[in-house]
Amino acid sequence: MEVRITAQNPWEVPTEALVVLCFKDKISDDKNVKEIDPLLSGAISRLVESREIKAKSGEVTVIHTLGKIKPERVVIGGMGKQEEFMPDFIRRSIAAVCKGLINKGIKELVVTFPCGPAGQLDSSLIAQLVTEGGILGSWSFKKYFTGDDQPAGIKTMALAAGGFSTSELQKGIDKGIILAEAANLARDMVNEPGNCLTPSDMAAIAEQVARDNGLEISVLDKAKMEEMGMRAVLAVAQGSANQPRFIIMKYRGTEASDIDLALVGKAVTFDSGGISIKPSEKMENMKTDMAGGASAIAAIQAIAKMKLAINVTALVAAVENLPSGTAQRPGDVVKSMSGKTIEVISTDAEGRMTLADVLSYAVNLGAKRIIDVATLTGACVVALGEVATGAFTNNQDLVELVKKAGDEAGEYMWQMPMYDEYKEQYKSDVADMKNVGGREAGAVTAALFLSEFAGSKPWVHLDIAGTSETSRDRGYWKKGGTGVPVRTLINLANHLAKSN
Ligand code: BES
Ligand code: MN
Ligand code: ZN
Repeated sequence: MEVRITAQNPWEVPTEALVVLCFKDKISDDKNVKEIDPLLSGAISRLVESREIKAKSGEVTVIHTLGKIKPERVVIGGMGKQEEFMPDFIRRSIAAVCKGLINKGIKELVVTFPCGPAGQLDSSLIAQLVTEGGILGSWSFKKYFTGDDQPAGIKTMALAAGGFSTSELQKGIDKGIILAEAANLARDMVNEPGNCLTPSDMAAIAEQVARDNGLEISVLDKAKMEEMGMRAVLAVAQGSANQPRFIIMKYRGTEASDIDLALVGKAVTFDSGGISIKPSEKMENMKTDMAGGASAIAAIQAIAKMKLAINVTALVAAVENLPSGTAQRPGDVVKSMSGKTIEVISTDAEGRMTLADVLSYAVNLGAKRIIDVATLTGACVVALGEVATGAFTNNQDLVELVKKAGDEAGEYMWQMPMYDEYKEQYKSDVADMKNVGGREAGAVTAALFLSEFAGSKPWVHLDIAGTSETSRDRGYWKKGGTGVPVRTLINLANHLAKSN
């Protein structure tokens, strides 16, 4: 989708659709509506009077203009209640409009500059939100359909400048494109089936991203990982014929040699559970178990495109978890790269094993802060559902910054406890720890297990098991990968860069 700015009066632009975002039960008060409605002989106010349109959140109403103005249609997008307004409402309503128009085969639209509380935000932020909502809302994963009956999608979206400085608006548009395209890259990876996205396929995507954005990259193979002693990663990988890869991507935005931020992502390209095999129902969803790794790769792409003044390294150990004659077994004891030993109680608690070694690697690199992102536990889905990501930390300042970055992105982060008392649950009789902590507080014990490998480094763990994909279309999300928490990670890097 191309996003541009138009300085023309929006109703004088020949276009398929002119979009006005309105608050619930406030349509007639909207400045844009007040200008356009008389030109349509009061068609909008008639619909409001008859209570046919209310501008509820996500509501999309299409009104044909029958030649009265240049745009062929006026589209009212509902933003929901004005009193509850959050910047994310702009993204959500534009996304709903785009989804609706795509289904009608419409390819271009003009968006009037929002007004009311939505118009009081910084103009560049408004442009960014409209852009993000448009690109996120227009995304779909169609590559494996072979028919020619797929809707074409939206080609161009123009934002009416509303008298604001075009350079400010353009800044917001540029940022919105980078953010949304990064999220869409992660969504594409999450939706790929396991046979099309193996560990080496994931490395190939990372290499492409690195080439396109001038990032340093190394991809280590199994032999190299053996040399480095990444035995916990290799234990998970050993059941699959698809060999593991350890992906290291480096972005340097400052002269300093420090790594300001390490992004560690869980990347199990398919999680069958291994010998502790999962029930077959819904097992296909476990192709998404690499969402954390995808988000690290996508975020560093955006950080590079935005040329942020920060040094970031993305670390992704990509593996496949399958049962076979070479697979690890329950009861095995594995010596992790840190030297700590792990008793494997369930081969399905594989994410924390792969992350253990990668966290040690990040600590050894001397990264100043570590964020890990993982589809780690079903327990987190039980606790927080698809709405909020579980956030765990050993550093309150860092998690506060992550929460703020999340709020700005419309990606909710909810902090969970990390009390030492829970650690008892993963004490082992034969090794330093076991890889499961029982049914109670499963998301917490998994996070505490990881904390053993982060040591005293400022670290935040994001459990995205519930939020990395959605079971239904809502807002700018489409059933499938959501791209959470890519935009949060980018915002976080942006904040850290500013304090550099
Ligand atoms: N990848 C799963 C977690 C998961 C569950 C992600 C549902 C997305 C949706 C993880 O590897 C896993 O299997 N965790 C186990 C841990 C248990 C064996 C301690 C779980 O949550 O059941
Ligand atoms: Mn598992
Ligand atoms: Zn898993």
